[in-house]
Amino acid sequence: MSGHGQTIPMRTRPKGPLKGTADVPGDKSISHRSLILGALSVGETKIIGLLEGDDVLDTGRAMEAFGAEVTRHDDGSWSVFGVGTGGFAEPDRVIDCGNSGTGVRLIMGAMATCPISATFTGDASLVKRPMARVTDPLALFGAQAVGRSGGRLPMTIVGAADPVPVRYTVPVPSAQVKSAVLLAGLNAPGHTVVIEREATRDHTERMLAGFGAEISTEDTEEGRVITLTGQPELKPQDIVVPRDPSSAAFPVCAALIVPGSDVLVPGIGLNPTRAGLYYTLQDMGADLTFENMREEGGEPVADLRARHSPDMKGIDVPPERAATMIDEYPVLSVVAAFATGTTRMTGVKELRVKESDRIQAMADGLIACGVAVDTGEDWMSVTGEGPGSVKGGATCASHLDHRIAMSFLVLGMAAREGVAVDDGNPIATSFPIFEPLMTGLGAELAREG
Ligand code: S3P
Repeated sequence: MSGHGQTIPMRTRPKGPLKGTADVPGDKSISHRSLILGALSVGETKIIGLLEGDDVLDTGRAMEAFGAEVTRHDDGSWSVFGVGTGGFAEPDRVIDCGNSGTGVRLIMGAMATCPISATFTGDASLVKRPMARVTDPLALFGAQAVGRSGGRLPMTIVGAADPVPVRYTVPVPSAQVKSAVLLAGLNAPGHTVVIEREATRDHTERMLAGFGAEISTEDTEEGRVITLTGQPELKPQDIVVPRDPSSAAFPVCAALIVPGSDVLVPGIGLNPTRAGLYYTLQDMGADLTFENMREEGGEPVADLRARHSPDMKGIDVPPERAATMIDEYPVLSVVAAFATGTTRMTGVKELRVKESDRIQAMADGLIACGVAVDTGEDWMSVTGEGPGSVKGGATCASHLDHRIAMSFLVLGMAAREGVAVDDGNPIATSFPIFEPLMTGLGAELAREG
């Protein structure tokens, strides 16, 4: 299981430029949803390009425990034979979601309006993360949750036998909470309405519509009002998962800070609810272009081309952009260390409850590498002094957080003394080919010990 197994210390050092094409794996958010919605349809959903990271594999095993049939074919495609809306069977074992907040929260939503119980757990990172943000709205449907103090895993959810539809305003910008409520609403009669004040990733809404649910989104003064008609018969789909913009961020940002680099990252989904990092990098003066813009499966897609950008400037990142780049602040803080001036990241309190406290984890590691960082409860600033200014040389803690591990390894590709991370094992949760992909571009990345 992810987060378990042996610790893998890793190190990067500056070498030559990064050059070539980086084929990053499938989108993690869409992969989870493909398995879950496939499991809630009647018949066979076929998935091409599923991310085979530990987080998604844990969700696949969970869908089997709820009664779906999940198969990997020799050509790398996957099939899910679903049980239909409301058709989940009661699992006969504990559902272990490993490192994945998305997995556990979406699955809790999907089972909360079925007349069954399930007990959830996860790794040492996931059992620290707040679940009340999901179990509070699920209680409105009639589900009950009993967990550890502070609403932590392990936790048992007793699904509502007679669910009622819900109208719920999400109190924090969270696609996971929004999605949990919508998935619960699938098996409630009538209309379930979710209101979000800030737009978060909308893959659940798009995919529910694709699977044949009646769902609409309206932008109002209250925010985005999403209305779902309950108890649809979901129709199985053929899904081609686009490549993950959050994984693309690592080769892109590495190319921007390593002298002489020129890297192409093809076929990246640029859904506006996910693409905030790339506009922010352009605002900083990055040499980053979107080539061959096109639409695939209803999503905007482009080939990203990133070249070394010695003239980047620190900027104030607009807080209203936070939800569209929430997973990318760690690697942005690395790029900021190589820009000239201060990059201020505000409105980012959610970073404190990710796989790790990402404000603290990045601040500690960057400061150890000689970078000027300041933080508050919901903000962080990084002051860079341009190319060549970062000393590095530290061993940074990854705190069971894949994005923290990858961000520091990217830092080490351009920091004078390189960077070590104490444990690169969590990288497998979202980006299992990170090492061969980065070394294929020319990076020096070694396992130590
Ligand atoms: C995700 C939503 C985000 C993000 C996570 C994936 C999703 O979390 O950080 O990596 O797939 O819905 P929040 O919705 O809690 O912000």
